[in-house]
Amino acid sequence: MADFDYDVLVIGAGPGGYVAAIRAAQLGLKTACAESRETLGGTCLNVGCIPSKALLHASHLYEEAKEGHLKKFGINLEGATLDLSQMMSEKAEAVKGLTGGIEFLFKKNKVDWLKGHASFTGTNTVEVNGKTVTAKDIVIATGSSVMPLPGVEVDNDKGIVVDSTGALKLPKVPEHMVVIGGGVIGLELGSVWRRLGAKVTVVEYLDQILPGMDEEIRKEANKIFKKQGFEYKLGTKVTGCEVKGDKAILSMEPAKGGETETMTVDAVLVSIGRKANTDKLGLDKVGLEVNQRGQIEVDHDFQTAVEGIWGIGDVVPGPMLAHKAEDEGIAVAENIAGEVGIVNHDLIPSVVYTYPEIAGIGLTTEQAKEQGYDVKIGKFPFMANSRAKTNRDTDGLVKVIADAKTDRVLGCWIISSLAGTLIAQVTQAMEFGATSEDIAYTCHAHPTHAEAIKEAAMAVQGKPIHI
Ligand code: FAD
Ligand code: NAI
Repeated sequence: MADFDYDVLVIGAGPGGYVAAIRAAQLGLKTACAESRETLGGTCLNVGCIPSKALLHASHLYEEAKEGHLKKFGINLEGATLDLSQMMSEKAEAVKGLTGGIEFLFKKNKVDWLKGHASFTGTNTVEVNGKTVTAKDIVIATGSSVMPLPGVEVDNDKGIVVDSTGALKLPKVPEHMVVIGGGVIGLELGSVWRRLGAKVTVVEYLDQILPGMDEEIRKEANKIFKKQGFEYKLGTKVTGCEVKGDKAILSMEPAKGGETETMTVDAVLVSIGRKANTDKLGLDKVGLEVNQRGQIEVDHDFQTAVEGIWGIGDVVPGPMLAHKAEDEGIAVAENIAGEVGIVNHDLIPSVVYTYPEIAGIGLTTEQAKEQGYDVKIGKFPFMANSRAKTNRDTDGLVKVIADAKTDRVLGCWIISSLAGTLIAQVTQAMEFGATSEDIAYTCHAHPTHAEAIKEAAMAVQGKPIHI
């Protein structure tokens, strides 16, 4: 067998790549990870999950203090003011701590960080920063970047027309912000700036926000966000954007065609999806092609069409989520090491970290029906959950979808301040093939928001207690 510099070389140190590299090293493989960014952790840690959650947390605290929401609990905070630069510093600290943590884990596990952009020069050969590196197995974990919108030019430095990276560091709170795309990024980062004082209008191409989620949950979320002050222009597409001075003039028209209207605003966030990163990767050198959506296809084991080259995370098909990338990172390393690494792609939870949070696992009602299931549905509102009532935190519900024939849980959708944490319980139950009865007869601690899951499962049986 030929001699290689490494057993495994991972390209990209996001949640997919860094996890794959650490697991490969744990399994005794000599491992390197190439990353072109200054810091490890990829989109998620640097400009994605972590900084957005830092701002979501801080802006929520600000809104609670500023809007007097704490008054009813006997806490008077009149005159709360915003120190945006301190809020941004705190976000930067969170990012620094976590990206530095990955560097520490690389050292601890003896993963070599090859600094620079990597591109294939042959099946087992990659060039990083002018140096040729060889590896027996190579994992592509190059992630994704913002999908551009023709006619709307992003300039994150100017801070008027921005993508998610720019929206994480606006120098001041805009008076009026338009979010193009009512998906996850638009609603999360739109929430941040709305809480800090901006008027936020969401322009969405489709007739409803949050595509891919359960229809009833989408409608309920829409109502809650409207109550919070979000404005919507649904069924509308943006056709162009001109920046004049410190304003952006957006042109838009009904998605189905019709008259153009313009809107002059202080900030525009383009959040219409993300695309796989395959540019300048030298895929042609190894005979790899991308599919119609620009992604690299892989098999069940995460192997590409070329033996010894693997793919995981946002660059391959499936939801573009950090936890999906991480699980694929573990599985691919185990497969390379000759073990059996599997990811159950039917059970990848999705969470929108707004307030309340919106989370889902498994099938939507619509998908279950399309797949021919006769469904039984149980719902329980947080309005009837004792802990949520006590905390004055009653927006939302739990919806459990079960197969009417077998009672097996097919999906669960939750709107709650704690939805992202609560969904883990149902995900695990579904991994074990739980029926709604299993959940209904599991003892849940009182008083907790989790009891709403038990009650929704009891409602599938037609016997909830508290409603
Ligand atoms: P990435 O994290 O994109 O990492 C890929 C890395 O590869 C990058 O660092 C890149 O610099 C590097 N790279 C690319 N090409 C090369 C090359 N040729 N050579 C060397 N290095 C290269 N997901 C969640 O699950 N929860 C969330 O709360 C969440 N919030 C998000 C918020 C925002 C604003 C955004 C933008 C995304 C969010 N996501 C969230 C999505 C999440 O960030 C991605 O799904 C995740 O980062 C994908 O991981 P990855 O390892 O596949 O790729
Ligand atoms: P998205 O796919 O969630 O939403 C994009 C929205 O834009 C859709 O509703 C779509 O219909 C709409 N759209 C598309 N073209 C449009 C146009 N021309 N005009 C108006 N609307 C248009 O994409 P988003 O929000 O950019 O996020 C990208 C990905 O990042 C997500 O799919 C998700 O995987 C990941 N992410 C995950 C988070 C989480 O897990 N909490 C947080 C943020 C991002």
